[in-house]
Amino acid sequence: MSFSQDGSDLFSMLEEPTEAPSLLPDRMLVTQRLLWGEKGILRTSGIAPLTLEQRQKELKLRRTMLTAHQVLGYTTLAAMIAQGIIGGKLYTGQNDLYELHKDMATVVNVGYFTTAGLSLFTPPPLINKKVKGFTSIKAHKTLATIHFSAMVVTNIYKDKNKEVHKGAAYTAFGSYALAVLVFKF
Ligand code: HEM
Ligand code: HEM
Repeated sequence: MSFSQDGSDLFSMLEEPTEAPSLLPDRMLVTQRLLWGEKGILRTSGIAPLTLEQRQKELKLRRTMLTAHQVLGYTTLAAMIAQGIIGGKLYTGQNDLYELHKDMATVVNVGYFTTAGLSLFTPPPLINKKVKGFTSIKAHKTLATIHFSAMVVTNIYKDKNKEVHKGAAYTAFGSYALAVLVFKF
């Protein structure tokens, strides 16, 4: 039996942690806190009580949602490239592409906002420590605020001002492609 400086039994110190580990990280996205926070809708409604078992299920759900996030994210990127090409031709007068552009717009919008929803409303991780300096995920999240705003402007100006529509759509595409590329660094 070995004793530590203060004479307490080393093994009991290992066996009995002083505080129960917190089930939620200190930091999480506002949208995640709305659902999964201590006072989140899913907690207060009793749908997802804040227990260890429940959190274990949520971490599995998080994994599934973030995998779907990436798969649908790549698919949306491909649809955006197609929409950009069609849009460019429509912009230079190929009006027979108008209906196709509108249909592709539905595909891009459903793909984009579902991809966003999968990450914005996924259950939070157990730990979410603040990390100094550049990280791919930090850059990804910062770029997400740019392409999300640009996608909203693209849709608002779709039938109001085609210059603003085009500019916003290209900004959305550029920052979105970058948000994927940052994971390569
Ligand atoms: C609608 C576009 C997108 C938005 C708004 C977005 C936003 C986010 C946000 C907020 C997170 C952090 C979630 C969290 O940690 O709880 C995240 C995680 C992530 N996103 Fe995206 N993202 C988008 C598209 C993509 C695409 C196209 C990819 C493809 C590479 C991608 C790959 C990832 C990865 C790898 C993570 C980290 C997952 C993890 O923690 O395991 N995202 N995204
Ligand atoms: C995220 C990508 C995009 C989405 C979701 C989108 C969506 C739309 C929608 C829904 C319309 C029909 C508006 C209406 O009349 O009801 C439209 C029109 C149009 N879009 Fe896009 N678009 C996108 C990208 C682009 C790009 C990149 C360009 C040009 C380079 C472009 C050029 C145009 C033009 C010229 C029109 C017709 C505007 C008019 O006749 O007033 N779009 N877009």
